[in-house]
Amino acid sequence: MITVENLTKSYGKKRAVDDLSFTVRSGAVTGFLGPNGSGKSTTMRCMVGLDSPNNGHALFDGVEYSKLSAPLSKVGSLLDGKAFHPGRSARQHLTIVAQTHGIPQSRVDEVLTITGIDSVAKKKLKGFSLGMGQRLGIAVALLGDPEVLILDEPVNGLDPDGVRWVRQLMRNFAAEGRTVLVSSHLMSEMALTADDLVIIGRGKLIASGPIRDFTETASNRKIKVAGPDALAIENVLRTANVTYLMNQPAEHYPTGYLEISGSDRMSIGHLLYENNVEIHELTETYSSLEDVFMELTDDDVDYRVDTKPNYTQMGN
Ligand SMILES: Nc1ncnc2c1ncn2[C@@H]1O[C@H](COP(=O)(O)OP(=O)(O)O)[C@@H](O)[C@H]1O
Ligand SMILES: [Mg+2]
Repeated sequence: MITVENLTKSYGKKRAVDDLSFTVRSGAVTGFLGPNGSGKSTTMRCMVGLDSPNNGHALFDGVEYSKLSAPLSKVGSLLDGKAFHPGRSARQHLTIVAQTHGIPQSRVDEVLTITGIDSVAKKKLKGFSLGMGQRLGIAVALLGDPEVLILDEPVNGLDPDGVRWVRQLMRNFAAEGRTVLVSSHLMSEMALTADDLVIIGRGKLIASGPIRDFTETASNRKIKVAGPDALAIENVLRTANVTYLMNQPAEHYPTGYLEISGSDRMSIGHLLYENNVEIHELTETYSSLEDVFMELTDDDVDYRVDTKPNYTQMGN
């Protein structure tokens, strides 16, 4: 278990991480989400002692990283901006890390195989692609067979195969009862990988908890309703004080369709039945994690392209 308590880190006047507290449980993959520049990498660097916080700390089962007796067998990390010596090979790089941490050479061969770079282990690192560099970074993280993995945007630069491989690696790791904290600015990736989420914006905690708490909640539920006469449906909803959005006519919806929040399928179906309004569609959907994230971090993004649909009319 990781406990981050009141972590604060400023660069000059810029507060990159602002009184951040959260916990990461073992046996699960925890997604660490936030827009670019929200402080994810800074937090992770502070956690493993590569940056010193102005206040607060991160504890691994109650112990600070700098006080761990064998840090690489407790915490393995892949952080961004890692620098490899371009003239060395992957095997040489791993061997140096292994030797300085009392890790046997046999483990070097193991992690080269696990990460799928054994065939290029003797190639100079300057010839490595971004994806191969990521795999080597993960190999370093795995070297000490750690209980905790901290991965900063590990799928950056990986091809679809590589992305699936990292996802599976993290899932297996968690299934063994170990702890995984993985950062991303890609919600879609986290939806497939994470059990829990920690969401930050401008260095501050926005929300945290099990991933389903972010999607399958009543407040994220939307009912879509359509019929031969959308205006008739609208009249009933307005009279019943139901919050809705009226969408303009579109393909398959010649008179438009309506989206309702704060209600459920049965109530809406029954309401329209009582009012003798014919419907051809009544469906329930939940916002995607992407949408939830956009809403949560709306005020915390410096710039973005607005992709929200334009609604023609708003009930209540
Ligand atoms: N070494 C540094 N010196 C100055 N500012 C930094 C440094 N590292 C990060 N920052 C700033 O801190 C903020 C958070 O950055 P970062 O932790 O990299 O965010 P993220 O990883 O979420 O994209 C950004 O505004 C960034 O410009
Ligand atoms: Mg980052």
